[in-house]
Amino acid sequence: MMKIFKAMLLLLAIFIIAIIAAASVDRQVYIVRLDKAKITNNFINSIGDSKPWHEAVLDSIAHVSSQQEQESEATPPELVYSYETAIFGFAAKLSAKQLESLKRVDGFVSAIPDQMLRLHTTHSPQFLGLEGSKESLWHSSNLQSDVIIGVIDTGIWPEHASFQDHGMPPIPARWKGTCEKGTKFSPSNCNKKLIGARSFYKAYLASGGKINQTEEYLSPRDADGHGTHTASTAAGNLVADASLFGLANGTASGMRYSARIAMYKVLWPGNSLADVLAAMVQAVEDGVDVLSLSLGPESPLPYYQDPAAVAALFAIGEGVFVSFSAGNSGPGKYTATNTAPWIMTVAASTTDRSFPAIVKLGNGQVFEGTSLYTGKATKQLPVVYGKNAGSGQGVEYCKAGTLNPKLVKGKIVICVEGYLEDTEKGELVKLAGGVGMLSVKKGDEDLNANAHILPAASLGASASESFMKYVLSTKLPTASIAFKGTTYGNRAPMLAAFSSRGPNLLGLDVIKPDVTAPGVNILAALPAVISPSFLKSDKRRAAFGVMSGTSMSCPHVSGIAAVLKSKHKNWSPAAIKSALMTTAYTVDNRGKPIADLAVHGSEATPFAMGSGHVDPVKASDPGLIYDITADDYLHYLCSLKYNATQMASFTDDFTCPKKATMQPGDLNYPSFAVNFKGKAHNITFMFKRTVTNVGIPRSIYKVSVEEPNGVSIIVKPNVLRFKKLGQKLSYKVSFMGLKTEKANSSTSSFGSLAWVSEKYKVRSPIALTWI
Ligand SMILES: *[C@@H]1O[C@H](CO)[C@@H](O)[C@H](O)[C@H]1NC(C)=O
Ligand SMILES: *[C@@H]1O[C@H](CO)[C@@H](O)[C@H](O)[C@H]1NC(C)=O
Ligand SMILES: *[C@@H]1O[C@H](CO)[C@@H](O)[C@H](O)[C@H]1NC(C)=O
Ligand SMILES: *[C@@H]1O[C@H](CO)[C@@H](O)[C@H](O)[C@H]1NC(C)=O
Ligand SMILES: *[C@@H]1O[C@H](CO)[C@@H](O)[C@H](O)[C@H]1NC(C)=O
Repeated sequence: MMKIFKAMLLLLAIFIIAIIAAASVDRQVYIVRLDKAKITNNFINSIGDSKPWHEAVLDSIAHVSSQQEQESEATPPELVYSYETAIFGFAAKLSAKQLESLKRVDGFVSAIPDQMLRLHTTHSPQFLGLEGSKESLWHSSNLQSDVIIGVIDTGIWPEHASFQDHGMPPIPARWKGTCEKGTKFSPSNCNKKLIGARSFYKAYLASGGKINQTEEYLSPRDADGHGTHTASTAAGNLVADASLFGLANGTASGMRYSARIAMYKVLWPGNSLADVLAAMVQAVEDGVDVLSLSLGPESPLPYYQDPAAVAALFAIGEGVFVSFSAGNSGPGKYTATNTAPWIMTVAASTTDRSFPAIVKLGNGQVFEGTSLYTGKATKQLPVVYGKNAGSGQGVEYCKAGTLNPKLVKGKIVICVEGYLEDTEKGELVKLAGGVGMLSVKKGDEDLNANAHILPAASLGASASESFMKYVLSTKLPTASIAFKGTTYGNRAPMLAAFSSRGPNLLGLDVIKPDVTAPGVNILAALPAVISPSFLKSDKRRAAFGVMSGTSMSCPHVSGIAAVLKSKHKNWSPAAIKSALMTTAYTVDNRGKPIADLAVHGSEATPFAMGSGHVDPVKASDPGLIYDITADDYLHYLCSLKYNATQMASFTDDFTCPKKATMQPGDLNYPSFAVNFKGKAHNITFMFKRTVTNVGIPRSIYKVSVEEPNGVSIIVKPNVLRFKKLGQKLSYKVSFMGLKTEKANSSTSSFGSLAWVSEKYKVRSPIALTWI
């Protein structure tokens, strides 16, 4: 719970309510896949589209199951969505008996119970090198390009300055999307920047979800803030003098400020995967070039049971680049979600900007924490904690009803991180008469800043430990908090502890996440109805607000993918992904390995940051790319030994070859995950890769390998000589295990393989795991 950022926590509480509501009814929404050939043979339908077939299938089971049922008024199955492109099938609300009947229909493939998803929440362009350097991609000639980013999220606040269309050419003629009418939203809210907006809630409502129209708009308008923030990060227009009460001031803009935005609202107070599937398919049909999804399941779903992964493969097949957030469940192993190899899975890290708050103790010790509070410093004040601040279970977390006004009045209250948002704890402290709040934590060094309504700051684990030692050993401890505004040039990037980690539970042969991008303390657009502290009681308003999460890093990568797409129109989604991965950096602005905030003083491994931190300038000219076709991904699934039923989740016109054509490790992925079982001695894995020359026609690349501990690596050939652009050359890499004893399971070691020419370095991380 400690690592979850604000927007997620807010939703979590509501999820629980929604889940309880859903559990109390016996009918449930299922996403059902059908075998198209069998269904079209067995059911008559003279009309061209699929819906009548789906209705016919449901009618047939309505008939069967009502015969079996005693009560005559058994509710018939309810068709929620009819899917025909990414999958052939539908979402429907069914009783357990109806589901049983459906399973007996000739042509039934699978039924997945619908799931709830989690939300995973301007300085970044400079930090990324998009602006200001001579090579700047923003100054490139084709900035007036036509790239369209589809954002699947909580909606958008269309009047925001970030979504105004000054300086934008007409909407690309190929665009087929629309701007849907709804509560406080009309087609006139779209323009040449926000070119489409739709809402998807049928499955959420069918699952028993409620939309309270006092608090939520039944339209693409954003009542939460998450979607407005992510959309402006991906492609918000330039806004001069953006800041949060003067903090983080400067020009705000999305990663690809000339790109178009189409918003697909799927996140309500609760949500449904069936709505997400419908939205993704619609976005691809509307003509988006990039899909950005800052959401995911609670825990990884097998690819064949994950409709979002299935829809993403469909999108990739249509040439759409798809990036997803990895999740905020770090730093534990195997926590990354959205890990299908065709998806770009994004971790989160810091930028060099911080919002320091200085905490000075009565004994003279000084600690640096973080805060977005903009008022004056506190005086040196008494500090209270736990039973000195109140009573009852959870008083150390400052839970509601635990603080005693008599004990906290005029003092600074310490609250341990967890259970509530830090801003909510500040609110409770203020209500009880406290003057300030200090949030302390165990474990990690994350410093996510909050726009508190009273003088308050958060401390990382090391500072918290020393601070608490003082507080618990001193009779009358005191402290003061001072706020230092915005500083730049801090050591960065550092990997956020909350960022979800590999190894990839569902496909050990692919390192996940793929890359990291800015996701801590990101300034971006806020709806006019949301306060910067995200507290309802807070009447302050700001056009821009700060959020943290892989939800924030994902749209950075989506926007950068749009930059690459406009520069290299013929690159496949896998080529763009390869360019971003092989040029990612692993050394920070101090020349040291990128640090991991999970453990003080530790370094981020590929299971935390993938190939490293994205570098848009380098990615626009990567030298070589590892390309992958949609068919290659299907062969990869065959190599995972998916059976015919499981394969039918992805496509109805592909059968795995009888004889395997590849092993999972042969997928032409720009990184290497190698897994040894037991004694590794003399066991060798050999994987094949093919690189395409997109750099200099005549060029020579030599291999450079950093061997992980426990393995010896041979690359054949070790020199690649290219004669022209577009030329493909293959190589084989052998990993020979050296361990003579059985290694502890789940221990890993790391290295890299790079192809180096005079101009380019094309790097792939290697992760070796004993499973
Ligand atoms: C809807 O939200 C409003 C404002 O929070 C609340 O007063 C009202 O009770 C809610 N209505 C329902 C039906 O939950
Ligand atoms: C931010 O504001 C400060 C103080 O007003 C000013 O000195 C600084 O130049 C501003 N920075 C930017 C990037 O505008
Ligand atoms: C494929 O595997 C699934 C899960 O193990 C199983 O339910 C299904 O019956 C299998 N299908 C075939 C055609 O073997
Ligand atoms: C390991 O392989 C090498 C070379 O292939 C061979 O010389 C050696 O005897 C092998 N060792 C074992 C224990 O199998
Ligand atoms: C395996 O784990 C045990 C217990 O954690 C440790 O003592 C031992 O050194 C480990 N062995 C290796 C080879 O890492």
